[in-house]
Amino acid sequence: MKPIVVLTAHFPAVAREVLSGLAEIIEHPTEQERSEEEMIAILSEADAAITLLSDPITRRVLASNPNLRIVANFAVGTNNVDVEAARELGVIVTNTPGVLTEATADLTMALILAVTRRLIEGDAEVRRTLRCEWEPLHLLGTSLQGKRLGIIGMGRIGSAVAHRARAFGMEVSGTRRGEAADELLASSDIVSIHVPLARETHHLIDRQALAKMKAGAYLINTARGPIVDEAALCDALESGRLRGAGLDVYEGEPRVSARLAAMPNVVVLPHIGSATEEARNAMARIAATEVARFLRGEGQLHTVT
Ligand code: DGY
Repeated sequence: MKPIVVLTAHFPAVAREVLSGLAEIIEHPTEQERSEEEMIAILSEADAAITLLSDPITRRVLASNPNLRIVANFAVGTNNVDVEAARELGVIVTNTPGVLTEATADLTMALILAVTRRLIEGDAEVRRTLRCEWEPLHLLGTSLQGKRLGIIGMGRIGSAVAHRARAFGMEVSGTRRGEAADELLASSDIVSIHVPLARETHHLIDRQALAKMKAGAYLINTARGPIVDEAALCDALESGRLRGAGLDVYEGEPRVSARLAAMPNVVVLPHIGSATEEARNAMARIAATEVARFLRGEGQLHTVT
């Protein structure tokens, strides 16, 4: 009998190609947020799984499915997986680093440009009015040239954003893991978040951190929603202390706050940082290769511990 690999979504075809002949593949796509119970049920026969960043791979899910030996998360972030429990239970966890760096950095720049140049407001206006009036004071935004971009998390993606921002004439400063961000928050015209979500980064940008930001600054988040205290962010935007925000991720994902969505100076995207064909194909290849290597008794290339 072939081992069973559960795919919790429709992944790019390359995932199946890599696994073909090695395993029986069972797909469980869903439009809905999955509960722990559902997760336990769909993994009940699995020897291996390729999972989404929204799948709750908790201690209970892992402990309830003793056949499951490897979880290949289709993401670089693994905050949906209880990695400590996996280690204790002997389940391998892998991720997909490197291949979504450029796509996510591109999308970060797209958000920076969209919010500072008010692209969404302009687009909506043209569609609504079917007119294009040129007026000296219409839809004025902020120029990037000479402005300071503060990058919280100068890792792979943060550094790729820095590279792009310099090409736009921006000054760039950044913090690395564990470094204080006070100076960066106080001096940046735009702050962009690029740290993983972990216990120590939950609400890293809380009410106090937002109060330290320059008046009229912008906040960009393409990392994980719970890094920002969203209620505090809404207050800062509504009061005009922050001039705008560009968001690809949300605290209560998949739900998006109606307060945020109602503000014209907030650009809201549906977590599409890595959504290029190139990045998603490469992610699928990596995740499936990790499972294939495991099934062939080979070592893993991207283990998360
Ligand atoms: C990741 O890989 O963690 C990204 O959020 C996916 O877009």
